[in-house]
Amino acid sequence: MPSYIIEGGRRLEGEIDVSGSKNASLPIMAATILNKGVTKLYNIPQIRDTRITQQILKFLGCKVKKNNGKIEINSRNINKKEIPEELMHQMRSTVILAGALLGRFKEVRFSYPGGCDIGARPIDLHLESFKKLGINIEEKSGFIVCRCDKIKGANIDLDFPSVGATENIILASVYAQGVTKISNAAMEPEIVDLANCLNKMGANIEGAGTNVIKITGVKKLKDISYKVMPDRIEAGTLLCMVAATSGNIKLNKVISEHISPIINKLRESGCNIEELEDSIYLQAPKKLKAVDIKTMPYPGFPTDMQSVFASMLTTAKGTSVIIENIFENRYRYIPELKRMGAKCTIEGKTAIITGVRKLSGTTVTSTDLRGGAALVVAGLTAKGKTKIKNIEYILRGYENLDKKLQKLGAKIYIEEGE
Ligand code: UD1
Repeated sequence: MPSYIIEGGRRLEGEIDVSGSKNASLPIMAATILNKGVTKLYNIPQIRDTRITQQILKFLGCKVKKNNGKIEINSRNINKKEIPEELMHQMRSTVILAGALLGRFKEVRFSYPGGCDIGARPIDLHLESFKKLGINIEEKSGFIVCRCDKIKGANIDLDFPSVGATENIILASVYAQGVTKISNAAMEPEIVDLANCLNKMGANIEGAGTNVIKITGVKKLKDISYKVMPDRIEAGTLLCMVAATSGNIKLNKVISEHISPIINKLRESGCNIEELEDSIYLQAPKKLKAVDIKTMPYPGFPTDMQSVFASMLTTAKGTSVIIENIFENRYRYIPELKRMGAKCTIEGKTAIITGVRKLSGTTVTSTDLRGGAALVVAGLTAKGKTKIKNIEYILRGYENLDKKLQKLGAKIYIEEGE
């Protein structure tokens, strides 16, 4: 298993392009199943999660051609309606392929999804929503079999604005009979990107980006090219990494509106930030100030940025209070930060971080994607050498993170391990 080796204490400076969004690419790649033809996608990040999705699409019978960030998916001859168990277990977002297969074939068989261990992560909202669309669900020896003759438009009021459930309902309803209305829908920019892509194919989706989304079933879709939005979490992560080292950065190919809660908190902690047309300039102070954060569904502060931000605050002046409202098990990186000298306590949903002068490098282990990124933040600021084990979690979601950080002046490299 590979590790990152980081020699910390270097100020990061320079200019970097943000990659395409992981969380938009995955549902958009799933959406190509609905187009019974060829979809060309641009700006797909070359990371493990998009590779797993490609493998599943190929297993289903799609022809996939890849050239860097461009992927051409021909879904005309899909001949399977099952998601293989071993791939299903590798990441949670495989569950949205179920909505797309249902939308196209009215049938799918899959097992419970895997992914980062950051809490219970049930799929009850997905399954209840499928039932409301007239889909019959049977659970048999660990498998879920969904079937119906017709998907019928329905009013679905989500108990929680789940991103994945909102995406699954959209995908399952594109060809439905009549109108589907999702209330308390997730409003994340990735939902808007999915809806924009599907509408370009010929779907009829209104209201994406608000909490009420209306999908009017259509009879067919058409071939398109689509460029996926920039990754707002990667953008936020790079800003925090630079801020933690008192550096400065011009981040290009970013939509600053998508990361305004992150920008606001970085400003509160003392960073000077200029928002340009499709780039952001950040200049960090010598010492950051403590800030409090509470994670919330969009447009609140994203849970995916909680660990990275908290890690940045371990060397800020004062005490920061972090409240994690979305996932119940998202502080598993904190014991690792403590091994590097961070002063943190956890009580339920709350983490209290008292800034220390410096962290010190040691060997730590990443426990999940964003928790792993938090350890990279810590390694960049720490005195001495940090070894981060199990970085395959980090490689799932960040494209060429080591290369990007090297470009900014960091000393980081991958050590292939036992
Ligand atoms: C997506 C993102 C993930 C992000 C999360 C919240 C992708 C590929 N992943 O994950 O990076 O952290 O949104 O912004 O886009 N829940 C249920 N029942 C369900 C579904 C969800 O109880 O059926 C709960 C979850 O356990 C969690 C909360 O709802 O506590 C949010 O989950 P959800 O918005 O569905 O996240 P994901 O779509 O899994």
